[in-house]
Amino acid sequence: MARKFFVGGNWKCNGTVKSNEELVKVLNAAEVPGTDVVEVVVAPAAVHIPAVQAALRKDFSASAKTGLAKGLLPNPLKHRSDSLQAALRKDFSVSAQNCWQGKGGAFTGELSAEMLKDLGLPWVILGHSERRHILKESDEMIADKVAYALSQGLGVIYCIGEKLEERESGNTMAVNARQMKALADKISDWSQVVVAYEPVWAIGTGKVATPQQAQEVHDEVRKWLAANVSPEAAAATRIIYGGSVTAANCGDLATQPDIDGFLVGGASLKPEFVDIIKAAE
Ligand code: G3H
Repeated sequence: MARKFFVGGNWKCNGTVKSNEELVKVLNAAEVPGTDVVEVVVAPAAVHIPAVQAALRKDFSASAKTGLAKGLLPNPLKHRSDSLQAALRKDFSVSAQNCWQGKGGAFTGELSAEMLKDLGLPWVILGHSERRHILKESDEMIADKVAYALSQGLGVIYCIGEKLEERESGNTMAVNARQMKALADKISDWSQVVVAYEPVWAIGTGKVATPQQAQEVHDEVRKWLAANVSPEAAAATRIIYGGSVTAANCGDLATQPDIDGFLVGGASLKPEFVDIIKAAE
């Protein structure tokens, strides 16, 4: 089964109104493969989400309208030039970076899945290692969050990954399998889940997993899905890689058979994110 390439930009706790405007301008101007080839999602900090949503749409429609008015772009009702198609293809989605594990209410500082749906967000990132290890979110809490987000109609980018000492002690797959099982215990439908394998030792360190190291884990995670969920889920679920992905290293990673895209941190804040999207081709 063909799995559509998926590229997520996790902006983490970065950005200002101004810097996000600049970044969105770069995204809106980018010529990237079509939505039939790649799904692109950006995850700004929660406070910036509505502005980024609006800017992604506004800049596109403004530039398309200007192009049409000036005769720079042909009328899409007649035919579509490559340049207009390039403009129409920039259908990037916006994701949240976290949400609460149940219905909203008296949970100061939290964001509910209902709120994200209300904003029209299709995705939320859950289980990121920064939340597992810095915020001390447990496997069970994260699985509850995923189950609730799915129940509210959100898609979930579910992060897993081992720490350096776990890899060095030969426990890479044991850790990833434990995190997969925690979720499998709470959900049965994986169709709206993208699994992001992010070895903790590769996140923000500049020390990217080799294509072989990443492929090995992706293959094992897919086999785990086949054995513990279903062969159909294993074939259909996108497993993306995250950890020091850059324009320079994404090409070799993208050629691996079980790497279906990327979750990008630092490089998603730079114009090179566009080159990473192009790795889908
Ligand atoms: O969610 C993204 C990952 O944490 C990767 O971050 O690309 O800065 O290593 P990074």
